Formats: sequence, structure tokens, C-alpha cells
Amino acid sequence: MRVEHNPVICLLGCGGFIGSHLLCRLLAGGAYSVIGVDIASDRIQHLLDHPHFEFVCADVYDTAALEPLIAKSSIVISLVALCNPWLYTTRPVEVIEINYLHPLNLIRQCSAQGQWLIQFSTSEVYGKTVAAVAGLGDDASHQLLDEDTTPFVLGPLAAQRWCYAAAKQLLERTIYAWGFERNLRYTIVRPFNFIGPRMDYIPGVDGEGIPRVMACFMEALMKGQPLKLVDGGESRRVFTYIDDAVDAVCAMLAHPVQARNQVFNIGNPANEVSIAQLAQRMIDIYRRLRMLPPHHEIAITKIDGCQLYGEGYEDSDRRIPSIAKAQRLLQWQPRVGLEDALEKTMQGYIDYYTTRLEQAV
Ligand code: UGA
Repeated sequence: MRVEHNPVICLLGCGGFIGSHLLCRLLAGGAYSVIGVDIASDRIQHLLDHPHFEFVCADVYDTAALEPLIAKSSIVISLVALCNPWLYTTRPVEVIEINYLHPLNLIRQCSAQGQWLIQFSTSEVYGKTVAAVAGLGDDASHQLLDEDTTPFVLGPLAAQRWCYAAAKQLLERTIYAWGFERNLRYTIVRPFNFIGPRMDYIPGVDGEGIPRVMACFMEALMKGQPLKLVDGGESRRVFTYIDDAVDAVCAMLAHPVQARNQVFNIGNPANEVSIAQLAQRMIDIYRRLRMLPPHHEIAITKIDGCQLYGEGYEDSDRRIPSIAKAQRLLQWQPRVGLEDALEKTMQGYIDYYTTRLEQAV
């Protein structure tokens, strides 16, 4: 990396789904120099020689390796997370350690040295809707989730699904406390189901276990298997295209005073669907992208959540973000509608996995 007068951003998890898209944009803008840390660089090969980029192949949990890199930076963006629900019921200790314990050193160092910490959290901190817990049904579950007023509603201990939400919630509370008492400068981002090319993995090709729903459905479509609807596919999600998400982070960087010590929901409330509707939309788009005849059969099946993920699986029934704060303070507005977001994401999977799947057989 050339010595520059640009602000230096330390991007932890630069080789992941969000990291690779964000890195691309940060470098394209020319306003920042980036030190990126990850163990994998497959998704960012095309950026490795960029003059404003230094890639450090290191474990993002290796405090000794990170400390000098953070010391050279003025902004730290931490994307590090184990954020796949299958892990919450199978490897909860690791989920809590990686999502809560490991980032603590980062908080201490940023607080001591004055770096602005942009920490990715999750929309899952909101848990279930109050309406679902109170048995009020769908009518009352549509309230927008507000960063500063909505309570967090999680399940009991044995419902290990919530270990991730609880870990991230405690991380947020710790960051808030350090901001309050020790002058930490921070911004917390709560993503609402970002999707796009390079998201997750296909089991047996470049990962194992059960990825998130987009990759599960793409795996099924591309292998000619039925799409599985967990507990009937009644849960609802807001899917947000990655370019809109990257715009939001850039808007934070462009509005440092307004973003200071704030929590932002980043999601597209106009893109809400039930998972059953998502399956049907994806089948229709897949038929179109692959030019399959209408009679080409693609099946949908139902599966119990605990059967797929293991005991302790529960679900978020619904989460629609209020984005009023990000609109007001950051002038951010998501632009990509659901159809477009799904089509671009699915085309990305088709381009990347068609040959790889053939080779894996
Ligand atoms: C996960 C993480 O836990 C969140 O923290 C994260 O913010 C979020 O992904 C995200 O991508 O932003 P979740 O939305 O529950 O949360 O993740 P998915 O595994 O994608 O599940 C979405 C819904 O699809 C759930 O209702 C799940 O039961 C369902 N699903 C999943 C199916 O019906 N079939 C499948 O094959 C897979």
C-alpha cells in the first residue's frame, strides 16, 4: 500500500460476503486506504494489487496480529461474526466466543487509541415480535422495529437459537457502556438479511452444514431438489440488496458527526416477504433465468425447524426495520426492490456455481 494522506480504514473480515463488496466500493472511491484482514481472499483476488489496499492474511481473532494494524488506522470496521443459524444450535460456545468475547479487545483498543469503531451487529437482537410472544397473532406484528425504543425479546436458555442474538446484544451493550463511560467513538449497524452475489456457500462445494435461506434455496434449485420450508415458511424477512447496504456504510463514513455513537437499522422495509413467498418468487425467477419450460417441475416441501437445525431452534417471526434514523441522519435510502435483488443474487450463484457443482458430482 502506498503511503497516503487518506484516512486509513482497518476492515476486519474483508474477504467475506459483505467485506468483499464494501472493500470494492471503498477502493473505487479513492478516498480511503484500506488495511484488510481475513484468512480467505478468494472473493477479493481482483483487489489484492490495488495501490490503496494492504491485505493481511491473519486470523481476525489474533489480537497480537491485529493490534499494530488497528494502531495504524483511524477507522475500524468489524464484520467478524458467526451468523448462520445452523451454528447457533450446533456450536453455541464458538458462537458466543466469536460474537461476544473476541471483539472485547477491539473495543478496549479503539477506546484507548481513539479509533472510530463501526461494529456490525444484527437485526436478530430484536428477537421475536412482542405480538408473537403475547399470542396476538399477525395483526399486531407489523410494528416497525426502532433502534432506540423497541425492546429485545428472546427465548429461554434451552432455545439456543438465541445465543447469537444474546451475544450480539451484550456486545452492543458493552460498546454502548464504553461510549458512555470511556469515550469510545462507535457506530453500530444492524443488518436486515443482506443478499447478493458471493453470499454464503453451497454445501459440498465450498462449505459444509446448512447455510442461510438464499443459499439453501439456490442449492435446491441448482441440484433439482425440493426447497424446504421450515415450519411452513410463515416467518417473514426483509431482504436487502448488498449495494444498498454498502451505500449505508459509505453514508456513515461521509457523515461522521451524525453517525457518532448511533445504532442504525440497515434494511429495506419495502422488500418484506414470507419464506413461502420467497420460495415461489425464486422458483419463478430461476425458471426465467434458466429458460426452463413452465412444466419443468420444482418441488417445495415442509420441514420441522428442530429436524433441520437440531433441538433448540426457534425463529424470528417478523422483523421490519424503521429506517427513519438512517434516512434523517445519513440521507440514506435503499433503492433495490426485491425482484431485482433476487435476480441479481441468483444470477451471481448461477455464474459462480454451475461449473463447480458439475465438478463436485
Ligand atoms: C440469520 C442470522 O441469524 C441473522 O443474524 C442475520 O442478520 C440474518 O441471517 C441475515 O442474513 O441478515 P435468519 O434470517 O433467520 O437470520 O437466517 P436464514 O437462515 O436465512 O433463515 C431465514 C428464514 O428462512 C428462517 O425462517 C428459516 O427457518 C427459513 N429457512 C431457512 C427455510 O425455510 N428453509 C431453509 O432451507 C432455510
